[in-house]
Amino acid sequence: MLTVRNLSVRYGAIQAVRGIDLDIAQGEIVALIGANGAGKTTVARAIAGLLPYRGEIAFQNETLRPNNAERNLKRGIALVPEGRGILGSMSVEENLLMGLYTRSDKAQGMTDLAVMLTRFPILAERRHVLASLLSGGEQQMLAIARALLSKPRLLLLDEPSLGLAPKMTATVFEMVQNLRREGLTVLLVEQKARQTLKIADRAYLMETGRVVTSGPAQALVDDPVVSETFLGGRVTNTG
Ligand SMILES: Nc1ncnc2c1ncn2[C@@H]1O[C@H](COP(=O)(O)OP(=O)(O)OP(=O)(O)O)[C@@H](O)[C@H]1O
Ligand SMILES: [Mg+2]
Repeated sequence: MLTVRNLSVRYGAIQAVRGIDLDIAQGEIVALIGANGAGKTTVARAIAGLLPYRGEIAFQNETLRPNNAERNLKRGIALVPEGRGILGSMSVEENLLMGLYTRSDKAQGMTDLAVMLTRFPILAERRHVLASLLSGGEQQMLAIARALLSKPRLLLLDEPSLGLAPKMTATVFEMVQNLRREGLTVLLVEQKARQTLKIADRAYLMETGRVVTSGPAQALVDDPVVSETFLGGRVTNTG
């Protein structure tokens, strides 16, 4: 569904991503894992069309143009950005309406919004409340719901667990699995490697702008070197 070839991104003198390859097949949950500054967000933003880059990104066999976010969204690539990108001074409902922005079928969009509110009862309950008053977990739900309203085929989630309590992280990850069951394809960007590998099919591990290892999630968990470097040693419990 998505192929990334020799992707490089620089911010002035800083080369944030150094020639990475990545593939996502229809229906997969693919994880992109790495420490602070590894380049994960940069990759997600390049795929969303929010950055200039070198290399090639193709979606459903069509080469995407860099810096072309609105077009990419219309094609079906939606990004839930790191930090969620919620507009705090707007109501929950107004934030959701932003999800319909690129859609031409506004009437159907309003129906989808109503359905979304039944899917996320907490958002329905608080639809007229300022988004800034929601908890971190609720804001993450709102950000995901807003992205879903653009009817994406590929959902890019940039550190959805950031700042969330473990229980809320588990809820969000469960939601990701449900979305995949419904046919959505997901790129899950995370630092929480161990938990992420539990729900991902495959993963790419990044370090300073490069992919250092990739493969089926279970194979990575079982690899002692990966376990040592990315998972903080051999642990058998959850985390
Ligand atoms: N707008 C920017 N201008 C200059 N440098 C940037 C910019 N955004 C990111 N960088 C640099 O690019 C590198 C990769 O950053 P990026 O945000 O992609 O990493 P990340 O893996 O998402 O990290 P984190 O886990 O902290 O979110 C880092 O060295 C970062 O300092
Ligand atoms: Mg990031």
